[in-house]
Amino acid sequence: MKKIIVLNGAGKKNGNTAAMIKAFSDGAVNAGNEVKEFFLQTMNIHGCMDCGGCRRKEKGSIEPCVQKDDMNQIVAAIREADVIVFASPVYFWDITGTLKTAIDRLYAPLMNSSIGDAKEIVLLMTSGGSTIDHILDWYKNFESWLKWESIGTAMNDLEAAKQIGASIQ
Ligand SMILES: Cc1cc2nc3c(=O)[nH]c(=O)nc-3n(C[C@H](O)[C@H](O)[C@H](O)COP(=O)(O)O)c2cc1C
Repeated sequence: MKKIIVLNGAGKKNGNTAAMIKAFSDGAVNAGNEVKEFFLQTMNIHGCMDCGGCRRKEKGSIEPCVQKDDMNQIVAAIREADVIVFASPVYFWDITGTLKTAIDRLYAPLMNSSIGDAKEIVLLMTSGGSTIDHILDWYKNFESWLKWESIGTAMNDLEAAKQIGASIQ
């Protein structure tokens, strides 16, 4: 049984991205895993200020960022999680600003070594037709910098999302 955190960067709670997350979650839960989703759009998450506060805090701090907002609950959940799913529609050929803002805020726990090392990651995307080659390039860079391992990506494909979820043991 693995603990899975989904960061949903969509604007709509019940749109195409939600359908991809549901397919993924159905697969993952059927395989015996636990899934917790954060719908970022309704959360209070500010952008990283690059203030360096996280690098000055004691290593392994429970709250590694100086900002006190809803990112703290996400960081706490990710600390306990095995798998992190990044889910987003394409907005102007990119992931949404909503998801990117939360990802930027992972800088603090990563710099502060307070989030755990061996995570697996998944990318779930939807679009109106654009391809996502450059988003996949970004995702590869992100994966390699984090030293977290991607276990799958799916784009506008509910069955592929479900299979990724089902593959998690
Ligand atoms: C602000 C905005 C920008 C968008 N930009 C793109 C785009 O560049 N390429 C594309 O294929 N679809 C684009 N779309 C369409 C969405 O990616 C697509 O409808 C997606 O499935 C919406 O996901 P949702 O139903 O979870 O909100 C855009 C939609 C919005 C609202």
